[in-house]
Amino acid sequence: MRFSTSFLDEIRDRVPISTVIGNRVTWDRKKTNTQRGDYWACCPFHGENTPSFHCEDSKGRYHCFGCGVSGDHFRFLTELDGMPFPEAVSRIADQAGVPMPERDPEAEKREEARSSLSDVMALATQFFEEKLQAAGGAKARGYLRERGLSSATQVAFRIGFAPDSRNALKQFLADKGVQKEQIEACGLVVHGPDIAVSYDRFRDRIMFPIEDTRGRVIAFGGRALSPDVPAKYLNSPETDLFHKGNVLYNLARARKAAGKDGTLIAVEGYMDVIALTQAGFENAVAPLGTALTENQLDLMWRVAGEPHLCFDGDMAGVRAAHRAADLALPSLQPGKSVRFVLMSEGQDPDDLIKASGPEAFATLLNEARPLADMLWARETAGGVFDTPERRAELERRLRDLTGRIGDENVRRHYAQDMRERTAVFFGREPASSRQSDGSGRGQSAGFRRPGAASGRRAVTDSLARSAMVKSVGGQTPLRETVLIVCAANHAVLLEEQFDAFEALNIPPGELKRLHTAIMDAIATQDITEREALVEWLRKAGVSEEWDRAEQLVRAAKVWPALEDAALDDARDAFRQALHLHRMAGALHNELKEAELALATDPTDENFEHLLDVQNQFRDAQAIEALIEGFGIQSGRPTRSF
Ligand code: UTP
Ligand code: MN
Repeated sequence: MRFSTSFLDEIRDRVPISTVIGNRVTWDRKKTNTQRGDYWACCPFHGENTPSFHCEDSKGRYHCFGCGVSGDHFRFLTELDGMPFPEAVSRIADQAGVPMPERDPEAEKREEARSSLSDVMALATQFFEEKLQAAGGAKARGYLRERGLSSATQVAFRIGFAPDSRNALKQFLADKGVQKEQIEACGLVVHGPDIAVSYDRFRDRIMFPIEDTRGRVIAFGGRALSPDVPAKYLNSPETDLFHKGNVLYNLARARKAAGKDGTLIAVEGYMDVIALTQAGFENAVAPLGTALTENQLDLMWRVAGEPHLCFDGDMAGVRAAHRAADLALPSLQPGKSVRFVLMSEGQDPDDLIKASGPEAFATLLNEARPLADMLWARETAGGVFDTPERRAELERRLRDLTGRIGDENVRRHYAQDMRERTAVFFGREPASSRQSDGSGRGQSAGFRRPGAASGRRAVTDSLARSAMVKSVGGQTPLRETVLIVCAANHAVLLEEQFDAFEALNIPPGELKRLHTAIMDAIATQDITEREALVEWLRKAGVSEEWDRAEQLVRAAKVWPALEDAALDDARDAFRQALHLHRMAGALHNELKEAELALATDPTDENFEHLLDVQNQFRDAQAIEALIEGFGIQSGRPTRSF
């Protein structure tokens, strides 16, 4: 019997070729990289002692560099064992968990129809490509040039242009003998009972062909050239060829590239995929204007263990990221997860690469946050866990979350990871490291009994690493910079908070000079306007210091401290930073005293006191970390200080 291509594709896609071949060969441990789905063995087709037989899961192909054989799943079984083709298909279908198709004349007819639809789509693709190069495509070519798409890129992605006509494509296809029904079934025209004459769906748009995993065009995305069209992007409707929740734009090409560096990048738009490819990131895919689906996630997982999902850093983007996290959670497997890349607000990868180059994007990729981080940040952000009940409630939520993971091993590790985070967060030693040999990463040595010398040393070590201690003695402490920039930008605060401002304990250096200059300004003149103050700072010769301070605050995205913020927001930010500043200062002094006391008089009492101060430090840090995270307050991402 004849099998449909879509059926063969499906089972081939579901079963890694290494599984099929792995039954017959022993993989070479040295050359094989299972993580990348890259396998080597001695060739089963010809005798050899050094492995030159190679297969790659992402491509679903094998090849021997010694004797030259190559093929796919079915070929392997038919050639090596002389198995008849239908039996090979049935074997793979079995492994894929997909039932063999009944012999169904209807289905076979449908399959034929599908392949003829595929031919129509191929014709349409050519039509759009030609129109882009034709006289009428000048505006479209100009647009693509302006957006920085090289002609090589345009050719590679088969980009085209749909002219501003109601029947140009329809006519072209009809002239080629394509039936009206087929044009309609391809979704290329708008038609229906209440439409007298069907007309071209895509008009005056840049056309992006969408291909299936074998590189056949199954749909189009069209971008409007004119800004006053209702939909910026228009996609093909669902057809027999195209089910948008099962398709990722550019997957066929990205999968080849992913074979090389082992990961896949998911972005939101066509243009992002193309810009990334042009910038050297060829492993990018995009869903088609909808939230990521389970099927799309599965498609990515077949190619890469940890696809990197990029989202806009605005509220909608963060929400979409959370949705993706929830989607992935139940299906996690050992080595199979997702990572998150949050762009800055309102910027997509295309914009970023244009503005700051490919390196900037590479940096973001390197900083991608693991799923566990993302979930933790979401559950803790903005919360205050100052009572046992609230802490218990957080623990319950985390337990519910990890409970949704299907795989037992991953679930166990998640539970442990969340326990460790919680323990550190609440300033307690994680139970696991108390019982274990203490090698867990969440281990905090501060709670060993006094008397153990190494325990004491560890206390001091971890204190030395503490972010808060550093920020008191550090180079340009963000918290203090915020205080100064905030007060200068909202000079009214200088009056209101004069005493507090004067009493700020700023370490010597750049910031101290700025602080001093502002104090001078207030003392000498009655300055209540930002402009006047900044002018004064220039005259006082600290304009560079001022610019750098403002830049630091901007980079840290502490918007309320900047010029444009509302006074009420600025006042809140100032107070919050002041509170943290004082707390850090007081704790710092107390800590120094406690350390000195312990050093000169090593009693249990002094040791306990040091531990107590350390705990307060932890709590304070936890609060800061909490505000930091992905803390989204009043609709915009902010950072703590
Ligand atoms: P964006 O609005 O972020 O556009 O939509 P973009 O990708 O940055 O496009 P350019 O740079 O303005 O050309 C992201 C994706 O959402 C879908 C498309 O798939 C688009 O690539 N979308 C957007 C639609 O389906 N319809 C729309 O009207 C807009
Ligand atoms: Mn864009």
